[in-house]
Amino acid sequence: MLVRRKRGWEIPESRATPEPVFRDRRRVLQALGAGSLLAARGFAPAQAAEESDPSAALYPFKRDPRYTLDRPLTPQKIVAHYNNFYEFGPDKSIAGLAQALPIRPWTILVDGLVEKPFTIGIDDLLRKMPLEERLYRHRCVEAWSIAVPWSGFAMAAFLRLAKPLAAAKYVRFQTFLDAKVAPGERRFWYPWPYVEGATIAEGENELAFLVTGLYGKPLPKQDGAPLRLVLPWKYGFKSIKSIVRVSFTDKRPHTFWSKLDPNEYGFWANVNPAVPHPRWSQAFERELGTDKRVPTLIWNGYGDFVAHLYAGIKGQELFR
Ligand code: MTE
Repeated sequence: MLVRRKRGWEIPESRATPEPVFRDRRRVLQALGAGSLLAARGFAPAQAAEESDPSAALYPFKRDPRYTLDRPLTPQKIVAHYNNFYEFGPDKSIAGLAQALPIRPWTILVDGLVEKPFTIGIDDLLRKMPLEERLYRHRCVEAWSIAVPWSGFAMAAFLRLAKPLAAAKYVRFQTFLDAKVAPGERRFWYPWPYVEGATIAEGENELAFLVTGLYGKPLPKQDGAPLRLVLPWKYGFKSIKSIVRVSFTDKRPHTFWSKLDPNEYGFWANVNPAVPHPRWSQAFERELGTDKRVPTLIWNGYGDFVAHLYAGIKGQELFR
C-alpha cells in the first residue's frame, strides 16, 4: 500500500483532479463505502507481463546522450504503480486492472491527409524505426513529476514513414476503445476514446518521442503499452497511451480533456509555473519518490528545444 503523508504545501486531491472526475469518484466512494473500495484497489501487485512481450529481446536500446536530467531517475516501482490511465479508472492504482489489455496483435492505423493510408503492426513498426533510449522529465498537470528512461523512436522518424501531405497541419492520436477490458470506458460521461493532438511542427521537433519501453524493457501496460506519445515540454495529459490510430488533418483535433473541460485543459498545454491551473498553482511540483517540492520550470526545462515553436502565436492560451 502506498501510504503518503500530505505536506502543508500539497494541494488536496480534490483540487488536483478534473472536477467531473472528482465528483464521480466521490459518488463511487459513497456508493461502495470507502474502506472496501480502497482494499479492493490497493497497491497493485507488480506484474512482469512486459517480460513475455514478443519485443523483449530488442531491449535495452542504446541511450541517446543528448538528453540529460537534473535529478535522479524515479524508482521504477513508483512509475509502474502511480498512473493516470482513465480507461482503467480514475485513481492511480490501475496497474493490476491494466494487465487485461491485450497488446498482441496490435495494429496502428495511419490515415487522413497522408500520401497513402496504411496499417502497421507494432512489431513491424519497431523493425523500421531507429530505436533509442532517452532520459526525460515528465510533469503532470496535477503537479507531480517523474524522471524516466523512455525507450522508443523520434516522432520525426514516424512522420517520414507516414508521409503526411503538405495540407496536413495537425496530427491526431487515438487510444483503443474496448469497454470489455477497460472498465473506465463504461463510464459514459467521458468522451471516449481518449484523443490527443499536436501540430506537425511539434511532431517534427527533436524532443517529440513515441515510446515503446521503459527502464530498458517493453512498456508496462499501465504506462501505455505498446505505443504512447511523450512530449516532455507539455503537461502529461498530452502523452496519450496505447495508441491505435494516427490521423493527419488540417483541423485542430478535439482532445479528450478539452472536451471534458475546455476552461481547464486546452490544446497547447505547455508547462509554465507562472500560469496557474484554474483550481491550483503550477509554481511547484512534487517529485515522486523523494516527495521533494521543486520549482516548476517553464517548458518543463526544455525551452531551448521548443520555445521557438510558439514565437509567432498570439491570442491563444499556450499554457493550459
Ligand atoms: N492516455 C490515455 N489513453 N488515458 C489516460 O488517462 N492519462 C494521461 C497520459 N496519457 C492518460 C493517457 C496523464 S493525465 C498523464 S499524467 C500520463 O498519461 C501519465 O502517464 P504514467 O501513468 O505513465 O505516468
